[in-house]
Amino acid sequence: MSGGAPAVPSARRRPLAVARTRAELDDVLRGARAAGGDVGLVPTMGALHRGHAALVRAAAAAADTVVVSVFVNPLQFGPGEDLDRYPRTFDADLEVCRAQGAHVVFAPSSEEVYPGGEPQVSVEPGPLGSVLEGATRPGHYRGVLTVVAKLLGLTHPDLAFFGEKDYQQLVLVRRMVADLCMGVDVVGVETVRDAEGLALSSRNAYLDAGQRRAALALSAALRAGAAAGPEGAHRVLAEAAARLASAPGVDVDYLALTSADLAEPPPRGEARLLVAARVGSTRLIDNTVVLLGDERS
Ligand code: PAF
Repeated sequence: MSGGAPAVPSARRRPLAVARTRAELDDVLRGARAAGGDVGLVPTMGALHRGHAALVRAAAAAADTVVVSVFVNPLQFGPGEDLDRYPRTFDADLEVCRAQGAHVVFAPSSEEVYPGGEPQVSVEPGPLGSVLEGATRPGHYRGVLTVVAKLLGLTHPDLAFFGEKDYQQLVLVRRMVADLCMGVDVVGVETVRDAEGLALSSRNAYLDAGQRRAALALSAALRAGAAAGPEGAHRVLAEAAARLASAPGVDVDYLALTSADLAEPPPRGEARLLVAARVGSTRLIDNTVVLLGDERS
């Protein structure tokens, strides 16, 4: 599904409601459920940009009631990470939700989501949670899956929308939903990029002009890698690595080629090329699909 989801049918346009508590969310959703139709959830941490707008638009095209959650989840930030400085732009977020056809914004406090403090039971992501992002950010995906499980439990959506930008998150949410029989359709939405290819991210707000230029190396490396797909996995990695190596100010954490579900890449067919790098003090991630040929053929 791309950023060009069809326009929201006018019958689905309703004023935006803001729910701050579980009780308020239940109240607004009770009405929606009585009217019938699908509920779509778009979980976010706010600071909404055009990438989030594409998620909300996709949800509004597919579901009768669209809930956008705005919650900066402390459980997914490690010590020394950017929890305190994570951008918070709630009034602008409401405008994005309204413009893209959302019906409910659920913006709970930490106490509302975690009434007893950190939950005693959490969602263990398994082996996929400790590779790639998980290797550098221990506990991150446990925090992500735990809050997503809670948001699904509070909203009971038919569909839930996640960006492909955090591809590992999307794969892990799909895995959780399948393994724990959560009964929701997980929809992945293509990454939105600026005109020069930089993947949109709330953390791009931390970059100064020079760092922003340096950050373009990530998407350039992915493009170079993807273009080498027909020549096989080895060339894909070599081309992408060469772009990153020649980029000043980009400190690469990992460059990895995997299968679509983050296992070993197949000899031919669909694979994923993923990159993470630090530009200044900002950690950026990006990924792309790669169609692999077989280097032996
Ligand atoms: O992708 C994000 O913004 C967050 O990880 C999510 C899914 C909203 C959970 O806090």
